[in-house]
Amino acid sequence: MLFKQQALLRQKLFLLGSLAIGSLLYLVARVGSLDRLQPICPIESRLGPPHLPEQIPLRTLQYKRGLLHEIRKGNATKEQIRLHNLVQQLPRAIIIGVRKGGTRALLEMLNLHPAVVKASQEIHFFDNEQNYARGIDWYREKMPFSFLHQITIEKSPAYFITEEVPERIFKMNSSIKLLIIVREPTTRAVSDYTQVLEGKERKNKTYHKFEKLAIDGNTCDVNTKYKAVRTSIYTKHLERWLKYFPVEHFHIVDGDRLITDPLPELQLVERFLNLPSRISRYNLYFNATRGFYCLRFNNVFNKCLAGSKGRIHPEVDPSVVAKLRKFFHPFNQKFYQITGRTFNWP
Ligand code: A3P
Repeated sequence: MLFKQQALLRQKLFLLGSLAIGSLLYLVARVGSLDRLQPICPIESRLGPPHLPEQIPLRTLQYKRGLLHEIRKGNATKEQIRLHNLVQQLPRAIIIGVRKGGTRALLEMLNLHPAVVKASQEIHFFDNEQNYARGIDWYREKMPFSFLHQITIEKSPAYFITEEVPERIFKMNSSIKLLIIVREPTTRAVSDYTQVLEGKERKNKTYHKFEKLAIDGNTCDVNTKYKAVRTSIYTKHLERWLKYFPVEHFHIVDGDRLITDPLPELQLVERFLNLPSRISRYNLYFNATRGFYCLRFNNVFNKCLAGSKGRIHPEVDPSVVAKLRKFFHPFNQKFYQITGRTFNWP
């Protein structure tokens, strides 16, 4: 009798066990299939799936970030550099432009990522004849120290519009990743003008009004000889780059969105650079006094960009703004077509 009851109990336990294992297997398979679902969005799908964090020992990097900071301040010894296998690496990604697109903000924000190390200064290696003649070792020596698995990024917005640069960068590294941050072209042109105007005023010099520079006084057409206008014809410059690099090597950043909502833009860049997503809402906070997002590295260290970023633009005659927008329109359409990224520019 007792033997019979024990057998029945064993049978029940076996049945329950099989049921539990079966449910577990079903759940694992279901979660796996959910994981494989990708968001449907043209640029997101072009970027491919995000990379697995295991590739970079991020915790180690975060921990050692303090050391990199000391090195930057000039406080680290040669022995420390050797001991930690720190090296000066050529950039694996470059922010090539566009001037006044938000290049500094983009570089500083990417530098929040533990696997990214920025070259603080604009190096102007590829666009400046004197610098270029100094050779690639000179360029490398301008780079910050980093751990081997970190990515060095530099930004020199003049690269985007300088004739010789695409070929020179291609010769250095034909598989380099190129970042271009753009803003609505007329706003960018006014921002460009504002920067030059401020420089003139600082030297007590007078300067023309934007309207006079942007519109040809004789023909009343847009003055395409004015540099601030030419720089905003993004497609013309990009086409020169495309003679050397395939379009997949470029990632277009929305500079207007980087101002109002930087995180999604940064997440797209992380994916383009094959980095695990590490920049979070915690790292970016809106500073009402500055009127911009500022950066938070940790509990003690945060910073906003310098006051020269985010100037007040002068008022521009609305008819001139309208003329410029109409002028840029066909170029913008072509730019959307080539890059696969569409903006709501007027
Ligand atoms: P404005 O001065 O016209 O506002 P660049 O670094 O390429 O010179 O670009 C400067 C622009 O970056 C500024 O243009 C500003 O609008 C923009 N920007 C984007 N994010 C910013 C931020 N968090 N803080 C300050 N400026 C920012």
